[in-house]
Amino acid sequence: MTWDELEEKCKNCTACAISRQRHNVVIGTGNKNSKIMFVGEAPGYHEDMQGEPFVGNAGALLDKMLASIGLSRQKVYICNILKCRPTDNRDPSYEEQASCIGFLREQYKLIRPMLIVCLGRIAAQALISPNFKITRQRGSFVEKKGVLFIATYHPSALLRDESKKKEAWEDLKTIKRKMIEMEIYDEQKL
Ligand code: URA
Repeated sequence: MTWDELEEKCKNCTACAISRQRHNVVIGTGNKNSKIMFVGEAPGYHEDMQGEPFVGNAGALLDKMLASIGLSRQKVYICNILKCRPTDNRDPSYEEQASCIGFLREQYKLIRPMLIVCLGRIAAQALISPNFKITRQRGSFVEKKGVLFIATYHPSALLRDESKKKEAWEDLKTIKRKMIEMEIYDEQKL
């Protein structure tokens, strides 16, 4: 599938009920040649209105998190497990995730990142393991079929509980160190 085909398929998707309420499909943003991909949960209100991931308060914090290790949203690729906003900002259901995950697989195939950062529990459970415990298992790399995965706290969780920020910043430093080791840092930095 090409990017154009994927975008067309996402825009016309009616696989689950939330597609009927969307203003925009939120596919992804950033560098389609990036070696690192950040995956969040699902669009919120602002993302649904603008058609871009992480543009609300959580997005402003994500920008700061990226900047803290010399990265930017233009240089990396950012997307979500769900491409449409679940109403009331609830957690995506398993059915919604199952209907939507194929789009993320296609994004993965087009980008072929070497490192995938799961932002929060929902992404980590969908991509790393179904029983993933974010408080206990964040910050460590897991290799699956030659691709490295790591999870850290979702920026929204950090906005709700500032005490988690120290650990999140440690995770970011771990990610930067790994990127340097993998020789992918210089091409991604600001
Ligand atoms: N939260 C997410 O998980 N993704 C977004 O795009 C915005 C908020």
